[in-house]
Amino acid sequence: MSLASVSRMEAKLLLSTYERQPILFVRGRGVYLWDSRGKRYLDFLSGIGVNALGHDHPVIQATIKRQAGRLIHVSNLFFHEYQAELARMLTEISGLDRAFFCNSGTEAWEGALKLARAFAQMNNTNGHKPKWRILAMENSFHGRTFGALATTGQPKYRAPFVPLMPGVSFVKFNDLEDLQRKFDSSVCAVCIETIQGEGGICPVNPEFLKLASRLTKQSGALLVLDEIQCGLGRTGRHFAYQHYGVLPDVVTVAKPLACGLPLGAILTTERVARCMHPGMHGTTFGGGPLACAVAIEFLRAEKKLLKHVRTLGEYFHAALRELDRRHESILDVRGAGLMQAIELDSSELAKAVTKQLLHEGIIINRTHETVLRFLPPYVIQKKHVDEVITALDAALQRNEELTDGKNKTDSRRRKEVHAHA
Ligand SMILES: Cc1ncc(COP(=O)(O)O)c(C=O)c1O
Repeated sequence: MSLASVSRMEAKLLLSTYERQPILFVRGRGVYLWDSRGKRYLDFLSGIGVNALGHDHPVIQATIKRQAGRLIHVSNLFFHEYQAELARMLTEISGLDRAFFCNSGTEAWEGALKLARAFAQMNNTNGHKPKWRILAMENSFHGRTFGALATTGQPKYRAPFVPLMPGVSFVKFNDLEDLQRKFDSSVCAVCIETIQGEGGICPVNPEFLKLASRLTKQSGALLVLDEIQCGLGRTGRHFAYQHYGVLPDVVTVAKPLACGLPLGAILTTERVARCMHPGMHGTTFGGGPLACAVAIEFLRAEKKLLKHVRTLGEYFHAALRELDRRHESILDVRGAGLMQAIELDSSELAKAVTKQLLHEGIIINRTHETVLRFLPPYVIQKKHVDEVITALDAALQRNEELTDGKNKTDSRRRKEVHAHA
């Protein structure tokens, strides 16, 4: 089927939830994708952080073929060979004790919120109202289901669906005083993306995370981290919290776990896990043999790539900083490992640069209006970074020239303000 006929049919038949780019992808290999016209694209987004091993990875392909020929689904009413082993690997690398498997990021997050409430009820021994308030962060993103929406700190995602789950208050991200002010003994969980992804690649400050950890420990609440985008090797460590020396009570992961097959997980401590009993939570598809067999292979590969991710991440970050020196329109460079971003001074410029790169066969993504986000596969090489930097340099140059003198003065002033913020 051609791009024209697919897009015509989709326009008529699908809920209108995405504004897709006019490209029909038909195959992928390594860091490249090919469209229906045979054009090649360098993939610096990896399906929003999912294809961390690139496309058509030989071990993943072989595992899918082997397992699909043996067993795809049995439900969680029976055992299969892979859940226990996958849980063993995830608990070993996370420092946590137990896992629950589901199908997506938002589902993992829903389960984490349920854990927080159930843990509070289990520990409510004095007959008062159990802890129930959830502190979530402004500018965060946790998914599209109701609990995830209720804790997502960006009004544009929540507004069309109110009323949402009650009991959530938002804290200014990285604002120690605001956290202190809003935290009290009624709080059952403090929820943080270790690095905010949709919100523009904004890492949590070490002091803020340490305060959240201390407050939750002291009062018996839970520190719940969302590492759905930043976890599982993306920052050059298994988990982003491992850069901070903090251990959460609960962490959620998903995106790259099964290399494109739907799989998410909640990881938690033995102490918290005691609040869950058979029947309280579940899933039909989650943690099936096919996805779990693939995830085991993903984790074996991820372990070997961590150093490479750190090296390439530093190389990429330094190159973006060098670009920053040459372009007034860049307000900030942020990120860790292969989760990098540059913030530009206008959404028009960010749109134009993303579009031009796509035209040249490079896939990146614009998030939070003005932020160019890079989530390449862990297997990229320096030459791929160089190619993206050269293309960015030219695209910025060309599109900055389209702005008039006034805008340039504005952007210089904004850059100064941003530097002092
Ligand atoms: C940090 C974070 N949490 C949760 C989600 C939701 O994951 P999913 O789209 O798999 O439901 C996302 C997706 O982008 C995310 O980046």
